[in-house]
Amino acid sequence: MKIHVNFPLQSLNSLNVPATTAEILLPASVNELFDLTREKSAKSYILGEGTNTLFCDVKAPTIIKPSLLGIEVTENDQYFSISVACAENWHNFVEFAINQGMYGLENLALIPGSVGAAPVQNIGAYGVEVGDFIDRVTWFDFAKQKLVDFTKAECHFGYRSSIFKQKLSGKGIITHVHFLLPKAWQRVVSYQGLNELRSSATAPEIMAKVIQLRQTKLPDPKHLPNAGSFFKNPIVSENTFNDLQQQHKTMPFYRQANGSIKLAAGWLIEQSGLKGVRQGGVGVHDNQALVIVNYESSQGKNIVAFAHLIQETVLKKFNIHLVPEVRFIACDGEIGHANKECQQ
Ligand code: EPU
Repeated sequence: MKIHVNFPLQSLNSLNVPATTAEILLPASVNELFDLTREKSAKSYILGEGTNTLFCDVKAPTIIKPSLLGIEVTENDQYFSISVACAENWHNFVEFAINQGMYGLENLALIPGSVGAAPVQNIGAYGVEVGDFIDRVTWFDFAKQKLVDFTKAECHFGYRSSIFKQKLSGKGIITHVHFLLPKAWQRVVSYQGLNELRSSATAPEIMAKVIQLRQTKLPDPKHLPNAGSFFKNPIVSENTFNDLQQQHKTMPFYRQANGSIKLAAGWLIEQSGLKGVRQGGVGVHDNQALVIVNYESSQGKNIVAFAHLIQETVLKKFNIHLVPEVRFIACDGEIGHANKECQQ
């Protein structure tokens, strides 16, 4: 297995934060995963393409960055079954599937990151979540040193959540994701922006529209370093929603199947007067307030401080606590609410 010491991570995280790890391990096959010692893997952070990761300190923990590649397709009368190795790029895989006539993932085009990271936070966009199309996930268990298969139900997919982000966080690595795409394809064009498409829009047309929408709204990390939506959209009770709506008639909202209500964090941040605001080389994007941009290659701690400023301002104005979607990684591992000083 390839191993590098004192390795700079700035080019491996889309927020372009300067941080260094004492050791980065790059397993390139399932066999090489068995070479990871239990001790080392227990203390490490698993990095995909670094598009949802904030290194809070100048030092990062041991990093495991799997580089398994490969796509295998089988089919029957009803479904395409596609097994994809974790280090495949998500968007390249979506394009591959659409170009081969295997539809369903078109609404998820251009989401940054790797295939292995997709189930962890159940990536979603334009009315579709990846969990809708996952049949099974293969996971390498660090403690038991063996491969385990999780069915879709066992993955506990929720809004930007799964068992891999909750109970199993840091306890293993997703090696392969197995997708099941029904041949009886159903387009999803109800989300704002896609409803401009004609009702007979094809999957390639939907993908093209999604790409166009994302390119207009979301900054390209290559030019403006960012990690997409920094916070999750908050989900509140009917009562909280009713109180808020009385004061803010134009507030966007989405009713959930269980009766709770999802609010738009970007709207809350914008209404708190933070759109375009900058501090310490970090700022709220001018077009999409849910995106924090690292304008001046600022250190992680400045992004942490800025995220806290956003949380406090929104809390004061709306009494809503915004929870980060981005994962906060300190020198000694992942932290829930980053504000810890590095002791090293
Ligand atoms: N809005 C504002 N001001 C803003 C941003 C948004 O008022 O600065 C309002 C919009 O006008 C709209 C509502 O908020 O009424 C929702 O905005 P948008 O459709 O842009 O989507 P979002 O809720 O901000 C979510 C996902 C995105 C995903 C889009 C499209 C989360 C945290 N984010 O954003 O996912 O692409 O919907 O489906 O759920 C990501 O996770 O990194 C990501 C980009």
